[in-house]
Amino acid sequence: MRNIANIAVLVSGGGTNLQALIDAQNKGLLHSGKIELVISNRLDAYALTRATAADIATAVVPKAACSGQEEFETRIMRLLDDAQIDLIVLAGFMAILSERFTNAYPRRIINVHPSLIPSFCGKGFYGLHVHEAALARGVKVTGATVHFVNEIPDGGEIIMQKAVAVKKNDTPQSLQSRVMRLAEWKILPAAVEQVCAAMVSGRGAVTADQEGEEPK
Ligand code: GAR
Repeated sequence: MRNIANIAVLVSGGGTNLQALIDAQNKGLLHSGKIELVISNRLDAYALTRATAADIATAVVPKAACSGQEEFETRIMRLLDDAQIDLIVLAGFMAILSERFTNAYPRRIINVHPSLIPSFCGKGFYGLHVHEAALARGVKVTGATVHFVNEIPDGGEIIMQKAVAVKKNDTPQSLQSRVMRLAEWKILPAAVEQVCAAMVSGRGAVTADQEGEEPK
């Protein structure tokens, strides 16, 4: 294993979580891994502009340009192999990945989800919909989760979570931005560092006593 893990970040949209990772890298909070590649399934993703501004290589694989799911994933896998990627971070990546893909990278794919899993997760729960559902249910506390990705949507082992209070007058948008600011942008870089540190030290996985560690 290398002494710094090569990271690829998969994105589809604004890329504020990617930005949090870039900022963490610049501040030295993320030092056991380096973002080597950003892959988007959308040409218009602002995340690509953020990556280019940070001098990170980018690639775009639009699903519509592929013959189907298999070619879409094969093209992404080829990019990951060429860049010798150790850890894949899904940061607002809004395309489905099949079992064939997730099985190819056991405990090497992590995702940030904008709720406290197992609430408001799985099929249909993504982006703003998650916060709409949380408000509709009337929960008083929500948050974000970083977890390993396996074949079950949002079903992989939880690495880190952070709770955020729901306010009386919250809209889905106000709740989304507070969950991002107070939870996602903190736990994603902390979890990526934790997983990369375990990988480069040869432990390869997060150990029980590291789980639940407070993000800095
Ligand atoms: C984030 O809130 C992320 O947790 C969510 O999409 C947003 C992407 O924002 N992801 C999911 O809902 C995945 N199920 P960003 O592009 O600004 O990082």
